[in-house]
Amino acid sequence: MASFTLSLAALLAGSTIASPLLSLKVDTGILNLDLDLKDIDSSIKSLFLPGSSTSRPPTNTTSRCKVYPGDLEWPSEEAWSHLDALTNNRLLEAPTPLAAVCYPGEGYNGTKCAEYTVANWQRSYLHMVDPIEMMSPVAQGMTCTPPVLFDSHGCTRGGFPRYVVNATEPKHVQLAVNFARNTGVRLVIKNTGHDFLGKSGGKDALSIWTHWMKSIEYIEEYVDEKLGYSGPAFKAGVGVQAFEIYKAAHEKGRVMVGGEGETVGVMGGYIQGGGHSPLTGLYGTGADQVLSYEVVTADGEFVVVNSTSHTDLFWALRGGGGSTFGVAISVTVKAHPDLEVTASRFSFSSAATGNETFWAAIRAYVDSWVANADAGTYTYWSLIPSNGTFSFAFSPFFAPGKSEKEATALLQPWFTKLNDLGVKFDPNITHFDNYYDAWRSSFPLEAVQKPNVATASRQFPRSNFETAEKRQELYEHIRASSEKNRVQVHFNMQAKDPANNDNAVSSHWRPLVSFSMQSVRWPINSTAAEILKIRKDFQDIDAQSWRDISPGAGSYLAEADRLEPNFGDAFWGTKYPRLLELKKKLDPQDVFFATTGVGSERWRVESIDGLPNENGKLCRVD
Ligand SMILES: Cc1cc2nc3c(=O)[nH]c(=O)nc-3n(C[C@H](O)[C@H](O)[C@H](O)COP(=O)(O)OP(=O)(O)OC[C@H]3O[C@@H](n4cnc5c(N)ncnc54)[C@H](O)[C@@H]3O)c2cc1C
Ligand SMILES: *[C@@H]1O[C@H](CO)[C@@H](O)[C@H](O)[C@H]1NC(C)=O
Ligand SMILES: *[C@@H]1O[C@H](CO)[C@@H](O)[C@H](O)[C@H]1NC(C)=O
Ligand SMILES: *[C@@H]1O[C@H](CO)[C@@H](O)[C@H](O)[C@H]1NC(C)=O
Ligand SMILES: *[C@@H]1O[C@H](CO)[C@@H](O)[C@H](O)[C@H]1NC(C)=O
Ligand SMILES: *[C@@H]1O[C@H](CO)[C@@H](O)[C@H](O)[C@H]1NC(C)=O
Ligand SMILES: *[C@@H]1O[C@H](CO)[C@@H](O)[C@H](O)[C@H]1NC(C)=O
Ligand SMILES: *[C@@H]1O[C@H](CO)[C@@H](O)[C@H](O)[C@H]1NC(C)=O
Ligand SMILES: *[C@@H]1O[C@H](CO)[C@@H](O)[C@H](O)[C@H]1NC(C)=O
Repeated sequence: MASFTLSLAALLAGSTIASPLLSLKVDTGILNLDLDLKDIDSSIKSLFLPGSSTSRPPTNTTSRCKVYPGDLEWPSEEAWSHLDALTNNRLLEAPTPLAAVCYPGEGYNGTKCAEYTVANWQRSYLHMVDPIEMMSPVAQGMTCTPPVLFDSHGCTRGGFPRYVVNATEPKHVQLAVNFARNTGVRLVIKNTGHDFLGKSGGKDALSIWTHWMKSIEYIEEYVDEKLGYSGPAFKAGVGVQAFEIYKAAHEKGRVMVGGEGETVGVMGGYIQGGGHSPLTGLYGTGADQVLSYEVVTADGEFVVVNSTSHTDLFWALRGGGGSTFGVAISVTVKAHPDLEVTASRFSFSSAATGNETFWAAIRAYVDSWVANADAGTYTYWSLIPSNGTFSFAFSPFFAPGKSEKEATALLQPWFTKLNDLGVKFDPNITHFDNYYDAWRSSFPLEAVQKPNVATASRQFPRSNFETAEKRQELYEHIRASSEKNRVQVHFNMQAKDPANNDNAVSSHWRPLVSFSMQSVRWPINSTAAEILKIRKDFQDIDAQSWRDISPGAGSYLAEADRLEPNFGDAFWGTKYPRLLELKKKLDPQDVFFATTGVGSERWRVESIDGLPNENGKLCRVD
């Protein structure tokens, strides 16, 4: 571990944080109270001590809310400067939103703004490397978006955090957690910002940015007798993304369970929240793969979490959701042998078939879902309405471990019906001898930053497919949503439950046949009141109609609507009561909060425009 002396004044060159001159001795790695906080005045020092040695109230008790700029309790410049110095000058103050270049003010740059075409702005690669940008502007509050997408009439910070620790060491995270807990400032964690509900942001919060924790280590033989696992594993920093770990696994002749989307932070929010994958039909969810975590707790302690150490946390962090029980630093996951894959991508449209033939084709397709799920395949398919026509696409049908012959046999019953109906299609069934190549050529990079969309989801279980009547009913509801102009994306899969697998993954995953999403879109110039009405109606009518035909089923916490009613039951099913108990035990001061997270019922973001977004103070619900 490197140890070095820093002059804060020197460090602050180029930083916007004003500070008195002081010099501190800083180690990298894990927080060492005796060494790291040695030369600091006791009043400031108390802000950085772990929970075990402090007892300050967590919030501004007079206002019900977390502590915000303007409050007497808001930390002094000196306090922030110390946080900066202690984190090796990795504290960023008020990072500028990317679209600030589009609006009058200091940062205006018309040339730069012109580079933000819709296509560029909607690429996740732009936002994932930014300290504050989240990929849902709707959840951010729409206060700084390029006019080509939506004219925010100026750029304000909205739901963006005020300070960001660009964390690369456990110590950076420990100091930020302690500081937030001891001052009452709101804490958020951003990894890539992919979360549909915007859980990586929060107005005027202190953010821990985990993106740069990028280490990947291959472990030839990891043995955990209690979990019944012995085999290869990867230990990865929490900033590692799908495209990185898949490549690393490929080089070792392995695969790992991660999302289909290439930039998803598969070791961050994805894995803690469950996480579905092209391999979920064979191996279960992302969270089902976890062998161990390194975690910074709400008390600011750095701990190893596995089947014998901090077992409550181990249970909760496998499915309980991000930003709730701790900040993970690394994750160790199972690695599986590489396998062949057969994939198919094709589309057809009602413009060519006419409406009735198109819908007969969709009705016939529903009949094959149980067999496809049972076979361990993963089909990502879409149903897009556009101006009175509908288009269907396999993007793709993905059959891990299946030869071309086996995959073709699975699809044949439906293809026969398509031929009988006279639907013209070119299934382009392609065989790959390894997962990595199949994944890379089958899944497109998805657009993010949609300015006028809300998505609701449903995990349709096997009971929705038991009889022809049930399948007809589901089909009719899918069709009705399309005819109401809802964009739909469905994942036909099962979520296998591996052996020795007691964790917090939602019970709603296990009987799954179709994870289905529908999205409402509103006119881009709608007022807040109009948007709220559209979103409430969408929940009360469209999403409710899918709930009505699947009583007792759920919704996936990472691809869902902030307005999902009874979210605890919807996102975790039978696991929710224990998760609530563990939240009270492991984070009694609610240091961690995410909208719709476990225990979040006690708090609410009081947004400025009344819409469900992060642009407001986080306050207790009384
Ligand atoms: C284009 C796209 C494709 C997607 N594809 C898939 C898919 O194939 N399968 C699937 O299951 N989901 C998918 N998702 C949803 C995805 O799983 C969620 O968006 C998930 O939250 C992403 O995690 P993240 O860490 O990348 O994102 P973030 O938005 O940065 O974080 C998500 C949540 O986790 C918390 N968090 C992040 N890191 C940590 C940490 N180290 N410790 C504690 N809390 C943490 C954050 O605070 C936040 O609450 C997709 C989303 C998009 C936008
Ligand atoms: C508590 O919050 C209120 C309202 O935001 C603010 O006026 C007050 O200064 C805060 N009190 C302290 C002690 O920070
Ligand atoms: C404006 O943006 C362009 C394109 O990114 C860049 O080349 C240029 O240096 C910027 N101008 C200023 C004044 O920052
Ligand atoms: C964050 O830290 C990484 C790793 O040290 C560095 O490459 C990156 O430039 C930093 N980003 C910012 C905005 O400071
Ligand atoms: C779990 O963590 C503890 C504490 O670090 C360690 O002693 C133990 O070996 C770990 N278990 C496994 C299976 O690695
Ligand atoms: C929608 O379809 C109608 C009739 O086919 C056509 O006149 C109109 O231009 C189309 N509108 C758009 C936006 O494509
Ligand atoms: C197909 O159905 C849509 C929506 O129900 C309708 O708007 C459209 O006119 C129909 N198209 C034809 C060709 O009948
Ligand atoms: C079929 O799919 C493969 C793999 O995705 C692709 O390389 C090829 O171009 C496709 N062929 C056609 C005709 O679309
Ligand atoms: C939005 O634009 C449409 C068409 O341009 C117009 O009819 C409508 O009145 C506008 N709504 C608002 C709230 O400005």
